Amino acid sequence: MRKNHTTKPLAENKHLLRWVEKMTDLCKPAAIHWVDGSEKENDALCAQMVRGGTFIKLNEKLWPGCHYARSDANDVARVEDRTYICSLSKDGAGPTNNWVNPFEMRKKLRGLFDGCMAGRTMFVLPYSMGPIGSPLSQIGVQLTDSPYVVVNMRIMARIGLPVFKEIDKAEKRVVPCMHTVGAPLAAGQKDVPWPCNKEKYIVHFPETREIWSYGSGYGGNALLGKKCFALRIASNMARDEGWMAEHMLILGVEDPKGEKTYVAAAFPSACGKTNFAMMIPPAPFTKKGWKIWTVGDDIAWIRPDAEGRLRAINPEAGFFGVAPGTSAKTNPSAMASLAKNTIFTNVGLTPEGGVWWEGMTDEPPAKLTDWGGQPWTPEIGKNTGAKAAHPNARFTAPASQCPTIDAAWENPNGVPISAIIFGGRRATTMPLVYQAFNWSTGVYVGATMGSEMTAAAAGTVGKVRRDPMAMLPFCGYHMGDYFRHWIGMQKLLSETPRIFHVNWFRKDANGKFLWPGFSENMRVLKWIVDRVRGRALGKETPIGWVPRFEDIDWTGMDFSKQTFDELQAFDRSLWRAEVMGHEELFVDLHDRLPKEMVYERELLICRM
Ligand code: OXD
Ligand code: MN
Repeated sequence: MRKNHTTKPLAENKHLLRWVEKMTDLCKPAAIHWVDGSEKENDALCAQMVRGGTFIKLNEKLWPGCHYARSDANDVARVEDRTYICSLSKDGAGPTNNWVNPFEMRKKLRGLFDGCMAGRTMFVLPYSMGPIGSPLSQIGVQLTDSPYVVVNMRIMARIGLPVFKEIDKAEKRVVPCMHTVGAPLAAGQKDVPWPCNKEKYIVHFPETREIWSYGSGYGGNALLGKKCFALRIASNMARDEGWMAEHMLILGVEDPKGEKTYVAAAFPSACGKTNFAMMIPPAPFTKKGWKIWTVGDDIAWIRPDAEGRLRAINPEAGFFGVAPGTSAKTNPSAMASLAKNTIFTNVGLTPEGGVWWEGMTDEPPAKLTDWGGQPWTPEIGKNTGAKAAHPNARFTAPASQCPTIDAAWENPNGVPISAIIFGGRRATTMPLVYQAFNWSTGVYVGATMGSEMTAAAAGTVGKVRRDPMAMLPFCGYHMGDYFRHWIGMQKLLSETPRIFHVNWFRKDANGKFLWPGFSENMRVLKWIVDRVRGRALGKETPIGWVPRFEDIDWTGMDFSKQTFDELQAFDRSLWRAEVMGHEELFVDLHDRLPKEMVYERELLICRM
């Protein structure tokens, strides 16, 4: 039997109380729970989910404080085709977003949400994106019928009583976020471990700054602080208020003198963002005193300070990382971060109550239960191709547990950003690294960035998908206006960060990667930091500044000048095709494209 009870409101803010009342009338939950964010509450919710079958408690000796969840097979990833930007005009959303007339969408949602929480508890979950009280932070309240969401959000954001206190101060506008798994329970109906609905809607109303999410309990569809708020809604706020909400990691590079240089970097998915954010430099670098510090692995909110320098916070408090491929070799800091107090979703479950995923160890366990709940052995995997973990299986781990977490990661004023790095997965054309000539060229580099599609996604393998600033699924307004905002930011700055493009994935004629990546990326990062600090020379090329072989620190690495030249080669005919690809994107955006983008393209063609 489900035990539902209604807890006392934990805030006095009249607008909040009225909204909760209105939404209760609409969703008709069996009970209301105001989330205080305490450990006691978290333990009770986890225990309740263990009893209900949503969670399995992992072996306390092997995985202290950790839980395991398996989602429904129809609810395993963000649903971009069900994600909407419902601005008043279609043009406001632009051609890269799904749009539905907001009045029509509201009507649709009212129907879907009517009685959607029947038989369930509605949680009133207040959260702060960014440290509580920071001038760079923003506040949301998510009403959700998913306890799984509440315990995940407790790791990914700051939640509970201190946030209610902020709301009562009424100094900041609060973003209302409605979320339901869309699975009401009739009287006496037994619940399932992962309730969800085949029909899904992830809806944003940018003008009223609201989020409505229906039908999914997974990741970015349901943890509304992440992609929905921190990128799609926040990108609208940022445009209106003169700051930037970006799909970027933030890291600090400490040099042997102890000086730190912070950089932000945008890569599309499956390009190793979390690994880069937590990189361990190669041994000779570490010995000399180089160290990488992690501020964030996914999202950066960046704002000019009083002196006109950009400063950034990581609005999140945890890592919602892709598990497959994460190992002690590829990312020891991520492995340390997820060793305790972590939620694992859709990985493999071992008989001793542990977890495993493809790439975690060289040797898979002899047997386990896969993410779909079926028996799995390495033999079955080999014969049927079945994976122990879903390719989008995730860990939700507290950032505070990361051994490389930066001392300033919760600084309410953020960290100063000296460089911005763009990158993608490109087998040809793109060199290992180049530096844009200036801010507007850099914006062009980010705007035209692309990545090859992998076999995992629908589409032609190897075809380049343009993903401007890695924001294609996350920009909450017209992409042309977004480029204009980037260009316009320069006017607010006394000093612009230097802009770079990297590509760890270039291949030789035989299809072999030319660059080993991972720790060795430190050598590229060192050149970037040296450029920023005026310590390294570069060579001018048609696309930008590049390092000469002797500008890279090769200590402890045997890498030939010949391979380096191949890696950095500028191929005129490939670049001709590349620039044609830029045009394809620009045609879609033509009516709102800032003229700087057109001129930058012309200049690039002239230089070539
Ligand atoms: C993510 C993504 O989950 O970018 O971070 O898809
Ligand atoms: Mn991301």
